[in-house]
This record gives sequence, C-alpha cells and structure tokens, in this order.
Amino acid sequence: MKILVTGGAGYIGSHTCVEAIKAGHEVVVFDNLSNSSPESLNRVEKITGVRPRLIEADLLDRAAVKAAFDEQKYDAVIHFAGLKAVGESVAKPWMYYNNNLVSSLVLFDEMRAHGVFDLVFSSSATVYGDPDKVPLAEDAPLSALNPYGRTKLWIEDMLRDISAADPRWHIILLRYFNPVGAHESGLIGEDPGGIPNNLMPYITQVAVGKLKELTVFGNDYPTRDGTCIRDYIHVCDLAEGHISALNAIDKMPGCIPINLGTGDGFTVLELVHAFEKATGKPLPHKIGPRRPGDSPASYADASRAEKLLGWKTKRGVNEICRDAWNWQSKNPNGYK
Ligand code: NAD
Ligand code: UD1
Repeated sequence: MKILVTGGAGYIGSHTCVEAIKAGHEVVVFDNLSNSSPESLNRVEKITGVRPRLIEADLLDRAAVKAAFDEQKYDAVIHFAGLKAVGESVAKPWMYYNNNLVSSLVLFDEMRAHGVFDLVFSSSATVYGDPDKVPLAEDAPLSALNPYGRTKLWIEDMLRDISAADPRWHIILLRYFNPVGAHESGLIGEDPGGIPNNLMPYITQVAVGKLKELTVFGNDYPTRDGTCIRDYIHVCDLAEGHISALNAIDKMPGCIPINLGTGDGFTVLELVHAFEKATGKPLPHKIGPRRPGDSPASYADASRAEKLLGWKTKRGVNEICRDAWNWQSKNPNGYK
C-alpha cells in the first residue's frame, strides 16, 4: 500500500515507518518537525535500507496538505501528528485545539476530496478519563480530564460522525495505552525535549545521569504496592499493531475503536525494579506526593485487537526496559 504518515518523524511514527517498510508498504511522511528531528528518518533508513520521503509541512497549511494528495494517490493515511503534553494543554488550550483539532479537520477534508477513505488514527486510553473499573474494554464510558484528552475524544467524535454520514470511510481508532521502549537496534527511540513528564523517559534519564532521581508520585493508592498501575506497551508491538490495522482495514467499514495494550498492569515500583534488573544498577528514587489527575489503575482489555486484527503484544517488561536503556545509553542526548 502507499501510505501517508502524518507525524511520521516522531516517536511512534518513526517506529511505525520501520514496520510499514518491512511489510512492503511505501511510506511518505508529512511532518512539520515541531517535536521531532529529520535524523529519525535517517535512522529509519539505516534499519530498513529505505529513507521515507519527508514532506516538511504543517497540517494547518491546507495548500500543503492538498498538494500532498494532488501529487499521488494514497491507499491509506495513518494520522499521528499532534501535540501530546497534558500539562502544556492545560496551560495553552487554544494551541492544542488549533494544532490537533483544526489540523485533523483539514486532513480529513482533503482525504475526502481526494477519494482517500482508509484512516488509522492515533487515539489514546486517555479517552477513558478516570475509569471506575479495569480492565478497560472499548465500550467503557468515555470522558476527558484535560484539553489534550478532549482533542482525542473530539477527533474520535468527529470521525464517528464523518463515517456515519458516508459509508465509504473505513476508520480504525487505535487507543494506545502507555507506549514505551525503543527499537532493538538502539537507532530510534523516544526523544522528549526538556524534562520528561512521563515515567519511562524520566527513568532512563536518571539512569544515564542527566537527572538526579525519580520521584514516585504517591504510594498510597489502593494497589498491590500503593503505586499506580499502567499498561506499558513496547513501541515496536504498537507499531506492528498499525500494520495489522492496515491489513484488516478493507474488511472494516465504519469507525471502530480498538485498544492497543498488553492487557497487563505494572506498578511504578515494579517498573523501577524491572529496569534495575535490566540495567544491573540501582535507580535512585524517592516517594513524593500524588500527581493531580492520576488514576490508580489503567490497563487494557486487549481482546478486540486480537479478534479483529489478529494482533497481540509479543514483548514484555524486560524487553521494554532493555530496549529503552539501549536507546538512551547509545543516544544520551537523543538525536542531537
Ligand atoms: P511525537 O511528538 O513524537 O510525534 C508527533 C509528530 O507530529 C511530531 O513529529 C511532530 O513534529 C508532528 N506534528 C505535530 N503537529 C503537527 C502539525 N500541525 N503538522 C505536521 N506535523 C505535526 O509523539 P508520539 O509519542 O509519536 O505520538 C504520536 C501520536 O500518538 C500523537 O497523536 C499522540 O497524541 C498519540 N499518543 C501518544 C502516546 C504516547 O504516550 N506517546 C499515547 C497515546 C497517544
Ligand atoms: C500519561 C498522560 C496521559 C496519556 C498517557 C499515555 C499525563 C498526566 N497523562 O499518563 O494523558 O494518555 O500518558 O501516554 O501526562 N510517574 C511517577 N513519576 C514520574 C512520572 C510518572 O511516579 O516522574 C507515575 C505516574 O504517576 C503514573 C505512572 O508513573 O502513575 C505513569 O505515568 P506517565 O508515564 O506520565 O503515564 P500516564 O500517567 O498513564
């Protein structure tokens, strides 16, 4: 298939480009590089032997989006592009609504105008809000706790309406749980700017000596060791999930949400200990107060992905820690 990958230079996008090329697809990346480096695509070339073409442009630039579709006929679009920092979205909601919502609308409209109706969208487990029971199946109640989450929920709503109005659309909403880890080559991985907000990049930066110690946000939750439980999914498993979605999309009219998770939850301290085991050295950490807005537990019911896509995760927490550390230790300053 010929696939347009928005946000393809980013963390999940670059890993998905690798899997797409390996599966024989032709990939064109559309990215404004606002949160990524073109070096990620050089690394994709090192891994696969193929450098995906980069259209360096903003999805808010309708003329550039139109030009991309005028130029060649795509079979499908994978839409990763967007801003993703929860705290920043609370401080600058207008930026998130503009960059995530308006740009998505431009993309979907140009897809329709050019007769491209197969879409895989990067949604998030954040659409389940503060869940009252786990594991989370796709029919669990949806809500948003912050502007970032609201952009995911509203794009999902937009896509449900779009597909209800026109039966030509085939849309898969992939709800990711917690993507972590890196390609096993150590050539591509997560490269957050500034101090990381998320657990795994924080852990690896402590391990490499860039940060002093990890603060565990709360140990008084109703969980087995008092720290929060999350479903950490290896980014290569996640990337493979997109290829399974592309393989199945022809048979899936409408707009279908599918969780991408392992179905297993790990506590913060369990992840810290798994990381210590993988690296063979202690990880300095202390217990701090809870982070506002954190749910005690979130993990997937991953059965729909297996049933509809024939996909399930292959890698566990040991591979996650090994590969995250391999990437961070080989690239202490990311792509710089
Ligand atoms: P990322 O920031 O590494 O990648 C996003 C890419 O989109 C970047 O390369 C950025 O330059 C590009 N981009 C942003 N706005 C753009 C615009 N207006 N026009 C063109 N390009 C633009 O993030 P990621 O972790 O790879 O996440 C990819 C997608 O998955 C995002 O939509 C994110 O919300 C979603 N998601 C991520 C996680 C996670 O934990 N990483 C979890 C759930 C969902
Ligand atoms: C974050 C996002 C959420 C997104 C999800 C998946 C926030 C507030 N939420 O949630 O919208 O859908 O990623 O990408 O950013 N932790 C620590 N110390 C740290 C960092 C994290 O103890 O320095 C804990 C957190 O309290 C949490 C767990 O580690 O219990 C995982 O945190 P994080 O990686 O930020 O992911 P989520 O909380 O699931």
